[in-house]
Amino acid sequence: MDDFRLKDGEFYAEDVPLSRIAEEVGTPVYVYSRAGFERHARDFREGLKTCARVHLAYAIKANPNLAVLRVMANAGYGADVVSGGELERALAAGMAAKDVVFSGVGKTRAELTQGLDRGIGQFNLEHEAEGVALSDIAAGRGERAPCVLRVNPDVDAGTHAKISTGKAENKFGVAIADAPAIYARLARLPGLDLRGVASHIGSQLLSLAPMEATYRRVGALLADLRAAGHRISHVDLGGGLGVTYRAGETPPSDAEYGAMVARVTRDWGVALMFEPGRRIAGNAGVLLTRVLWVKPSPGNPWVIVDAAMNDLARPALYDAWHDFEAVSPSGERFVANIAGPVCESGDTFAKGRKIDRVADGDLAIFRTAGAYGATMASTYNSRDLVAEVMVDGGRYAVVAERIPAARIMAEEHVPEWLTA
Ligand code: LLP
Repeated sequence: MDDFRLKDGEFYAEDVPLSRIAEEVGTPVYVYSRAGFERHARDFREGLKTCARVHLAYAIKANPNLAVLRVMANAGYGADVVSGGELERALAAGMAAKDVVFSGVGKTRAELTQGLDRGIGQFNLEHEAEGVALSDIAAGRGERAPCVLRVNPDVDAGTHAKISTGKAENKFGVAIADAPAIYARLARLPGLDLRGVASHIGSQLLSLAPMEATYRRVGALLADLRAAGHRISHVDLGGGLGVTYRAGETPPSDAEYGAMVARVTRDWGVALMFEPGRRIAGNAGVLLTRVLWVKPSPGNPWVIVDAAMNDLARPALYDAWHDFEAVSPSGERFVANIAGPVCESGDTFAKGRKIDRVADGDLAIFRTAGAYGATMASTYNSRDLVAEVMVDGGRYAVVAERIPAARIMAEEHVPEWLTA
């Protein structure tokens, strides 16, 4: 369910016609629904209502726009960040430092220091040496850094290989079998307040089974750690819950997820932490684009749109499916390929897909583009950096300006020794 619907034959974002945004802001442009973010945030929280102590940290990598973060802050969410840049965004949007969790497999010493300077709530350690480094830095300041150890449960998330993170061969966390020994060594360090464990096995999960298997392994580890005398107060269960990209995909509901979590974690006696990203942002946004040309070919016609792989990278990177719909559908359909203007064949959004019949100049949307859309955009082919808009009822605001290619060029320098 989302907030982009046909009204009188035309697509609206909440109460704003998409054609108006295209006219006033131009295309391509990401369009977000404030109500969508708020509803997803509320539903996810509601799903967990039978769990005693819950901390929600929106994975801001999914959509780090400041306006989006402000919506999430107002909804009572903290942030899961993976870089110093994301940390500053979370704080700039009004999230409390204590509600920020710092994940990421390659935190630098400068970022660890930045986390301490800002007083964040928790570091999720990815390996032992990182814990030693954090302890050194924190102890040098007379502090103890709140942290948990991320474990790799060796569970197949059943998702795309490039977004799977919980198999033994993935780079994330420490092997769960090694965790007790590593935990024991880290727990002795003077600069750490090691208080639990974390796990995150991948993204766009459409089944609860791998999550439940992971949580059960984490539960067994908790028992081992406690038996060894450790005090465990926090467990971070990560993100990963999928969304519907195409008809027939039925991710678990928030209630089903919450019920599973409650059942598996009933006796844990810890604060549970969650890092949802896509679940919140995915269906709260679309990418609005204009058809440039419909180009005949020996096979299916090519619908060339003004959005490209630099604006929405997911199809090129993960063969991801995004529904494509005309903003003013005529009711007629045809089979076509959809591609952008970028000069490589990977810049193809769909092949041989039955879609609304569109013609040169028509507007269209790629759905479910609120997560991992704008945030992964680039300026490849010296294209502008895509703009972002947020709708709220009958009004909207540009929440990220389009950055013209000329502005980016202006940041480049030709050294004087090349011009002499
Ligand atoms: N926590 C950690 C430690 C993560 O690495 C991630 C996502 C999340 C939480 C949030 O996961 P979510 O709830 O959004 O599934 N660019 C890819 C997705 C990459 C996900 C990376 N980590 C895509 O477009 O599909």
